[in-house]
Amino acid sequence: MEDKTRARKVQPHCLVLSHPFQGHINPMLQFSKLLVHEGLKVTLASTRFYINNLHININNNLPPSISLESISDGCDNGGIPEAGSYNAYLQRFWLVGPQSLVDLLEKLAKLGNPIDCIIYDSFLPWALDVAKKFGVVGASYFTQHVAVNNIYYHVQLGKVKVPLMEEDEISLPSMPKLQLCDMPSFFFTFEEDGPVLDMLVGQFSNIDKADWVLCNSIYELDKEVVDWTTKIWPNFKTIGPNIPSKFLDKRVKDDEDYDFTQFKSEDYCIEWLQDKPKGSVIYVSFGSTVPFDEEQMREIAYGLRNSNKYFLWVVRASEETKLPKDFEKKSEKGLIVTWCSQVKVLAHEAIACFVTHCGWNSVLETLSLGVPTIAIPKWSDQITNAKYVEDVWKVGIRAPIDDEEKIVRGEALNNCIKKMMESEKGKEIKRNAIEWRTLITRAASEGGSSHKNVLEFVSSLFSL
Ligand code: UDX
Repeated sequence: MEDKTRARKVQPHCLVLSHPFQGHINPMLQFSKLLVHEGLKVTLASTRFYINNLHININNNLPPSISLESISDGCDNGGIPEAGSYNAYLQRFWLVGPQSLVDLLEKLAKLGNPIDCIIYDSFLPWALDVAKKFGVVGASYFTQHVAVNNIYYHVQLGKVKVPLMEEDEISLPSMPKLQLCDMPSFFFTFEEDGPVLDMLVGQFSNIDKADWVLCNSIYELDKEVVDWTTKIWPNFKTIGPNIPSKFLDKRVKDDEDYDFTQFKSEDYCIEWLQDKPKGSVIYVSFGSTVPFDEEQMREIAYGLRNSNKYFLWVVRASEETKLPKDFEKKSEKGLIVTWCSQVKVLAHEAIACFVTHCGWNSVLETLSLGVPTIAIPKWSDQITNAKYVEDVWKVGIRAPIDDEEKIVRGEALNNCIKKMMESEKGKEIKRNAIEWRTLITRAASEGGSSHKNVLEFVSSLFSL
């Protein structure tokens, strides 16, 4: 490496600590791989139950520079369900987590493997206090979209009052005007989800003390918000997209060899894609947590069937019983699997578009691979992400919701598919998607905005 500071013998050691969600550990694992590639040693950690139940796909091996550890969340035997509710879980985790993190740092130090920096999931702000206690670098890592973080930040400042009214127009610096229907779901479900919103707002409780604020977003995608945020925190850096690098550039060669999932991938679906014509298959997936009721599943099922297009649909094992009884898992046009290697699927030339819930990772993956989107957001940040997909980046359309039933009807989905695959509008959206893919690939490649930010962060650790 050219940088002289990197010549020092000791390899800085980062602890990367993730909240126990697929949508969090995925990008934090990919970021860890980038750090290893740049010469750091990484210990990746999450909660005990979560880590013990992960599948490490493909080789069942981590590269030598990444080791896996866990801390207790007070629910070591059953994870979130053990606590009874997510709200109760957060309370337990907040109580038990900090001491367990201290224990882990002490254990690593005793083993002669001390930590120089904690990169903590922004959902776990107490990890920064632990970093300060040990005198090591504390870097907050935001897994969600920079614009969504901006909304929560303004709630913390008291500039967005909760609850919001239907007619309110939300005007935040560097962002398009938003209405209640564009806001993260916790603004609608405030009464039952108050503690979750508190947690999201709490991401900013001690952020001013963080040495770095890293965000899985891309400068080119959100220039205004990033410029605005950087004015508040000069150490704010966009380092995304944290997806397997081999799909962006060729920097990380062993990328394909491992990833973590809560579910076993059924990757025969990649073979199924092989003989399908270019741009002919609709990929459908709603991430790792979203549940739908039977009626919504039925509408999606018939919408897909009636489109008469090829489709590959991920229906998690826990959702399978909600499929209509007469709906085959494998038919002439369609294939249903319980999980797949999503990025590989999206990168396949047979894929025409992605029907998605707009979880942030799914959005970043589809943008990075130039695949247009049909958005069916369900909750959380997905709603705001869908707004950006349709109105800001113009890479997709949001499926209209039936006002009475609050679901997307099969006919509405079918119309979106037609629009996407058969109309001039669909072609325009595809062109936009390709343009964003080019910009994002550039940002992640040698000399690009995200790559430079990663190097700046790494160099700072080498010069400690
Ligand atoms: C959650 C929240 O829902 C989301 O809104 C938030 O931004 C992050 O945490 P999740 O719902 O699981 O995540 O969605 P998403 O962010 O899209 O993450 C899902 C991940 O699982 C993606 O990286 C996707 O590639 C992967 N995946 C999904 C697979 O590997 N295979 C599948 O079959 C489906």
